Order: sequence, then structure tokens, then C-alpha cells
Amino acid sequence: MQKPDRIFARDGEWDALVRFASGTTPHPGLGVVSGRRRQGKTFLIESLANLTGGLYFGATEATETESLALFAAALGRHLGQSSPPRLDTWDEAIRYLFALEPGVGPFIIDEFPYLTKGAPAVPSIIQREIDRAAFAQHPIRLLLCGSAMSVMGRLLAGNAPLRGRATLEMIVRPFEYWRAKEFWELEDPRLAVLVHSVVGGTPAYRALARDDTPQSVADFEDWIKRTVLNSRTPLMREARYLLEEEMAVRDTALYHSVLAAVAVGNNTRGGIANYVGRKSTDIGHHLVVLEDSGLLRAQTDIFRSRRAVYRIAEPLVTFYEVVMRSQWGLLESGRADTVWRLSGSKFSSQIIGPHFEQLCRDFALWAEPELYGGELPGEIGSGVVADPSRRSQIEIDVVVMGAASSGQRKKVLSLGEVKWGEVMGRRHVERLERAKHLLSRDYDTSETKLACYSGAGFEPGLDPEVLTIGLEQLYAVTP
Ligand SMILES: Nc1ncnc2c1ncn2[C@@H]1O[C@H](COP(=O)(O)OP(=O)(O)OP(=O)(O)O)[C@@H](O)[C@H]1O
Ligand SMILES: [Mg+2]
Repeated sequence: MQKPDRIFARDGEWDALVRFASGTTPHPGLGVVSGRRRQGKTFLIESLANLTGGLYFGATEATETESLALFAAALGRHLGQSSPPRLDTWDEAIRYLFALEPGVGPFIIDEFPYLTKGAPAVPSIIQREIDRAAFAQHPIRLLLCGSAMSVMGRLLAGNAPLRGRATLEMIVRPFEYWRAKEFWELEDPRLAVLVHSVVGGTPAYRALARDDTPQSVADFEDWIKRTVLNSRTPLMREARYLLEEEMAVRDTALYHSVLAAVAVGNNTRGGIANYVGRKSTDIGHHLVVLEDSGLLRAQTDIFRSRRAVYRIAEPLVTFYEVVMRSQWGLLESGRADTVWRLSGSKFSSQIIGPHFEQLCRDFALWAEPELYGGELPGEIGSGVVADPSRRSQIEIDVVVMGAASSGQRKKVLSLGEVKWGEVMGRRHVERLERAKHLLSRDYDTSETKLACYSGAGFEPGLDPEVLTIGLEQLYAVTP
């Protein structure tokens, strides 16, 4: 089954969906598709429904009675009946679905969390019917899809009724940074980094920016004013919408403050608590909710595993917290120019640098293993190395560790420093050498490669043993 042309990339996801829908084994198939808002879940499963002749039903926020009526109507239309089947309860509806002859599916329910909100028993009803169908060797295909990540996650967790029953579990994620460059049709890697630092790899943001793509680096600032800062594009309101929609939280103020803390660089738990003016223990719940919803990522320091640093997973949220939030009134009244004049400098000082660091860590994941000596990396991240004799510490932006093997000291494959706006040279390498020396007590550093990642180039005459990775190479990865 050919993937429709309008779907960019997503080959693996498409194959998995087609395999799920067209499997002919005499067993019921239950699929669960999740992912943050705007990643293209509906886009994929609607196409699947069209091509397989299945039923697509998108639940809405509604009472139980209304959603049942809508579901019955959709089912009736799908089956070509002149009037919808009479379904008084979800129990009846699900039993009806499972009693249909094989071949009229797959049945796809989108926005499943809306449905369970009004009818929390539906997962256990599905569980019961799936178990019966397994016994009766009924090959039904049921696909549940939704975005409130914490809800979808809970659907398959621990002792949840559907646990262990799904035959397909898929998370639709943002495009990788190098794919986003293709998706936005950008030739220049510098421009691709800049654009990614605002809209990341979320497919829908191109449409929300009304398909306006920047023509060149020189056009970038103007593009920002035309799109994300423009009150007439849906993109401007997106970050706020995301937070409210994704988490259905009541106390949004504290959530925004937590995100703002991380956005401006306070990324440890203590740092965040201090910034928002609460005790560290009081923000634990908020951090968990933000992590569950996929907006925040906790990453452990490679060298000090008990220390986690938080990073915002969606660049648009960082952009909103740093540049837009404090100027919301001006933005609403259409004063993009003024806002950019007042806050634009924060883009260069707070957004692009850390964002470029993250892209370099992502690069390390995609790079040919030969680059770092041939061994497959076990872990990639950042880390802090203490330098007690100088009473300081060295932050390492890109750490590539070898796969752990028991009984041996962990191998450091590479230590890297990242600079977006600085030509890199001898002094950066010296810092890395110092870190390598300090680490050699606890780790195997015999084959550690030092690496400089720069958006501005390198001084001539650097030791050829040092890896120098520029923008062209950052994007020269093969999937
Ligand atoms: N693979 C893709 N290729 C091209 N465009 C895409 C792709 N995925 C998503 N889009 C664009 O993004 C838009 C939003 O996608 P979609 O509505 O499917 O996201 P979603 O994950 O269902 O989000 P939500 O959780 O908000 O419902 C699509 O209408 C389409 O314009
Ligand atoms: Mg959708």
C-alpha cells in the first residue's frame, strides 16, 4: 500500500501502520498511536483509513450521550446503513463493533482521551472484548490514537486494562533536525539551524506559518516578524495553546514560570525552584506533568548521574517564554517590530546558543560511528567535570560514551565543545584536554577524541587529531 505523496517522510511509521491494518493473522490487533499535538498523527491515520476503507472516528469534547450518538452516526455511514445503529451505552457500542464481520475495519478512534474523559470505562470494555476476540480468533483491527501524552501513556502503563494487549505502540515524534531542513526546503544549513531554533521539527508549524519560509539568513528576522510574531498567523498563539491543550492544567502560571526558568537557562531542579520562588519539593509534581506531556526532558549529567538537567523539548515553547511572553500585549496589538526590537537580542543571547548545542548532541547520534573511533555510542549527553585544584568546573556540551561493559572502566569516546558564534581554536581544545586529563582517573580516556563544533568556523593550524564539525557536516548525515 503506497504512502500518499502528501505525507512527507514517516516511511517507518507508515509501514508499521499498514502492516498492522493488513495483517491477516486470526488474532485481534489493538494499536495505540500517541504523540504531542501537531506531529501529524491524524494526517497519518486518516490516510490509512482512506486507503484501507476503514472507519475513522474523531472523538470530540462532548458528553457521553453525544459522543455515542456521533459514533453511531459515523459507524452507520461507514457500513452504508440508512439509519445509524441504536447504541445506548459504550458497552453496546464496543460489542457491536466486535460483532461485525471481519473486513469492514480497521476501526480508528482519534482523540481517544476525549472519549474516555466522558466514559472512563471504555478501556476496560475494550480489554474484555479483545480477550474474547482472541479466544474466538476474530481478526478485528482497532486503533486508538490521541495526544494528551500523559493519558495515552497511562493507557498502557502498569496495571491499566489494556496493558500487554496492544500489538502496535507508536509514538509520532517531531522530524529530526536534518529532516526538518528538507521539510522546510532550506538549502543553507545556517538558515536551517535558525529556523529549527524557532519551529523545531513539528510538521504542522509550516502550515501554521502559512507556508511562509525564509528566503535567506538576511530574511530570517523579517520572517520571524511575518510569522511567529504576527498576530494574524495561527503560529503566534500556538505555544500558549500547546500548554493549555496538552496538559489541561489549571494552575498555568506556575507551569509557565517553570518553563521560563528552563528557557532562560536555570535547568536544574534547584535552579528552577529558586527562579520561580518555591521550594524544590513543591515543583516536583509540575516537573513530572511537563515531562509526561513531552514538553520537558530530564537528562542526567553523564559524569554525575544523580544530577538531572531539564531541557525544553519544543523550541517554539522556548521562543515563546524568552521572546514573546513578556510582550504579549504588544504582540496582540500587532506590534511585531517593536517586540523584536525589545526582545530580539534575547534570541541571540539565550536561544540560539543552547539550541545549537542540542543539535550537535543530536548530530552525535546520527553521525557515522567511525567519526568517534568506530565504536557504537552507548550514551550521548552533556556533563560537568569538576576541577578541584583550580576550584572550577568544566562544562562539556557533547559527551559521547562507549557502550557500558561490566567490570571495565567506562570509555569516553568523545568530548566536545560547541560555539554558535565563535571561531574555535587552541583555547577551546585546551579546556577539552584539561577535562580529558581530569576524567582519566575514573574513565577510560585512552581513545577519547576531542571535538569542536562551530557555527562560525575554526582557526587554521588546529591539531588534525581534533575533530572540527561545521554546519555543512552537521547536516551531512545519512539516515
Ligand atoms: N508527514 C507530514 N507531511 C506533510 N505535512 C504534514 C505531515 N505531518 C503533519 N503535517 C501537517 O501538519 C498538520 C497537522 O497534523 P495533524 O493534525 O495530523 O497532527 P496531529 O498529530 O493529529 O495533531 P493534534 O494532536 O493537534 O490533533 C497537517 O494538517 C499537515 O498540514
Ligand atoms: Mg489529530
